[in-house]
Amino acid sequence: MSVAQYYETMEYGPAPEADGEARAWLKTHGAVFEHFIGGVFAAPQQGEHFATFEPATGKTLARLAQGSAADINAAVAAARSAQPLWQRLGGHGRARHLYALARMLQRHARLFAVLEAIDNGKPLRETRDLDIPLSARHFLHHAGWAQLQERELADHLPVGVIGQIIPWNFPLLMLAWKIAPALAVGNTVVLKPAEYTSLSALLFAELATQAGLPPGVLNVVTGGGATGAALVDHPGVDKIAFTGSTEVGRLIRQATAGTGKSLTLELGGKSPFIVFEDADIDGAVEGVVDAIWFNQGQVCCAGSKLLVQEGIAETFRRRLIRRMERLRVGSPLDKAIDMGAVVAPVQLERIRSLVEAGVNEGAQRYQAATVLPQEGYFYPPTLLWNVHPSSTVAIEEIFGPVLVAMTFRTPDEAVMLANNTRYGLAASVWSETIGLALDIAPQLLAGVVWINATNLFDAGVGFGGYRESGFGREGGREGIYEYLTPNAWSTRKQREKPEATSVAQHNAGFELPPIDRTAKLFIGGKQVRPDGNYARAVRSPDSMQLGEVGEGNRKDIRNAVAAARSAAAWSRATAHNRAQILFYLAENLSARGDEFALRIAAMTGTTIANAKAEVDASIARLFSYGAWADKYEGAVHAPPLRGVVLAMNEPIGVVGVACPDEAPLLALISLVAPLLAMGNRVVVVPSESHPLAATDFYQVLETSDVPPGVVNIVTGRRDGLVEILAEHDDVDALWVFGSKQASATAERLSTGNLKRTLVDHGFMTDWYDGSASEGPILLRHAVQIKNIWIPYGD
Ligand code: NAI
Ligand code: MG
Repeated sequence: MSVAQYYETMEYGPAPEADGEARAWLKTHGAVFEHFIGGVFAAPQQGEHFATFEPATGKTLARLAQGSAADINAAVAAARSAQPLWQRLGGHGRARHLYALARMLQRHARLFAVLEAIDNGKPLRETRDLDIPLSARHFLHHAGWAQLQERELADHLPVGVIGQIIPWNFPLLMLAWKIAPALAVGNTVVLKPAEYTSLSALLFAELATQAGLPPGVLNVVTGGGATGAALVDHPGVDKIAFTGSTEVGRLIRQATAGTGKSLTLELGGKSPFIVFEDADIDGAVEGVVDAIWFNQGQVCCAGSKLLVQEGIAETFRRRLIRRMERLRVGSPLDKAIDMGAVVAPVQLERIRSLVEAGVNEGAQRYQAATVLPQEGYFYPPTLLWNVHPSSTVAIEEIFGPVLVAMTFRTPDEAVMLANNTRYGLAASVWSETIGLALDIAPQLLAGVVWINATNLFDAGVGFGGYRESGFGREGGREGIYEYLTPNAWSTRKQREKPEATSVAQHNAGFELPPIDRTAKLFIGGKQVRPDGNYARAVRSPDSMQLGEVGEGNRKDIRNAVAAARSAAAWSRATAHNRAQILFYLAENLSARGDEFALRIAAMTGTTIANAKAEVDASIARLFSYGAWADKYEGAVHAPPLRGVVLAMNEPIGVVGVACPDEAPLLALISLVAPLLAMGNRVVVVPSESHPLAATDFYQVLETSDVPPGVVNIVTGRRDGLVEILAEHDDVDALWVFGSKQASATAERLSTGNLKRTLVDHGFMTDWYDGSASEGPILLRHAVQIKNIWIPYGD
């Protein structure tokens, strides 16, 4: 037999990793695990346990404590009492602890890798080479943020006690992504791991305590959805960070609405994998393997939607199928396999039924002829070819080893198909033409774009979604800010009384004689009559009628949103162009400064001098954002690979803005200008009691070259208009200042398209204090960061 023939016929023998140490650890606990609270294992207060399984065999692996509200309460109390000391320890003290955790993971890498493979069903090769080292890297990177905190993050405080809920697909890695940044900057944590895969979190908590982590800093409560919900509902939790399904993400947004808890959501995806005709085909085929068959496809950012350019579609399909044939499915501990087991029977069932749906809707199915193990939850690598863009499998997240494929002709069509999803987590672009790839990347609605690569991650590079893939980032500087509160905001005072008392509306032109003409609405660059033809009186503090403004309604908001939507060119305008217009607005406001001051004084009853000061501050603020427009820039990251990552600040899109009554002109400018500077278009509801400064501002907008539709202003009952904006699925983000009630409404009703919300919960912002109301403190919320990975060479 020749060597070549020998190679052809050579079988991979099983190469199992020894699992003795992991199983021995389970035995030391008698295969029964309690919660980890205040530095010790603590039995569940209701005494209940549930079984956790080994997906590769279906056998019970251990029993886990069933967390109740009482257990959550105990864990939150432990975290609360540990927090002040942990914060006082200072950056360097915490850096030492995080470094110790990184070292601990490295020392026990093999134990963690084997335990994770047994518990989750994922290949040991992946836990050993990715999950564990990347987890250690997260602790090391964040030890660095702790060390630099007093210098680099000086104007911020920790949020407090953080509730973190994680999924089962990367149990230890998700733990690391969640707790490393939280702990680094002085928060304490209650972690609820997924019910299928809690063991590595319990091992971690045990070993972390042995490594000196103070009791109560990290608490782990096990259990299912109800346990997670109890954590979300606990009043002693200051923030929830969640990774999991979009469905549960929505529930959590609703449950936390109006509570003042901050929230980050990392949800599902249907991420495109785009292959252009000039791609390195074999490289792209390997990329597909990594995109969809890594971790059995149970990856939130899996490249699950293959888009191939027509000219190479047939070649690509053949080579991909040939490659699929060589994939091996088997025991997670066998180092010679490519795919392990799916996490649970319910997931297997979900995958099966979605694939059937795909076939019924016309897709051609290819499955690798690999032999599946007899027991356990296995599913073969699967390709659904010729999938229609509106087919169920092209839209739903399958969360399994199933690739759906379709073809495209032109780059524009590729972008359209790629963005034809409610999600926006990741995308992968394959082309040897760098100009083409870098032209496509900014057009994709996704938080991460990989050029000629896929599934690359690093602790120093932010990760997170656009649209219904959630909000907030994990990793990097932006991830750190999710666990901090600006100093200037932590001292804000609650408004004494809900100030905006509604004025009875009346039919324009009747009842009251017009003292001033009725100010219209400002939509699409034009002053327009309100749809309902109602007006509301605007009065001075001593009840003199100063004028009337239009009473906006649902139809007006719809028109304003449509106008903002079609002003998309603003988002593509150069930063220089936007800067120039912001400066020009300042110039034109300045030219009419006295008139605005008189108006403010009449509406609010303040002195002329104070009113002039407000106008001057407004002019200065416009200048500030003219300055920031081309200076609040992205970053170039250097993760551990040959290549760069471009972190780009992109506009969010159409943003609704509700303004408070205090400083009616300055607050409006302070909220609108950062959004404009970053390329967003806005629909503004001005101060309800003092709207005339906003309606006077129409003429300033008209004379300053602001393109039609970029700024739209709808006057009326603020809280009602906020409700309409929150429910509108074409509004991408919502900023609500001035009302506790409207803040709650905004959060609660924003779940349709999972808007990003920035609300003041009724706390008063000092608009004259730049540290509270100007610059990065708001600019950060005016952008979403897209990370574009560009590896070099091959
Ligand atoms: P899930 O969203 O229900 O579970 C994620 C975590 O949330 C778990 O720890 C779970 O116990 C907890 N949880 C469940 N209900 C909760 C509630 N009402 N309040 C608070 N916490 C709650 O996801 P599941 O059911 O395990 O998987 C279903 C589908 O979700 C998958 O097929 C996949 O499409 C998607 N998914 C996406 C993930 C991602 O990384 N984006 C991760 C896991 C699932
Ligand atoms: Mg569930």
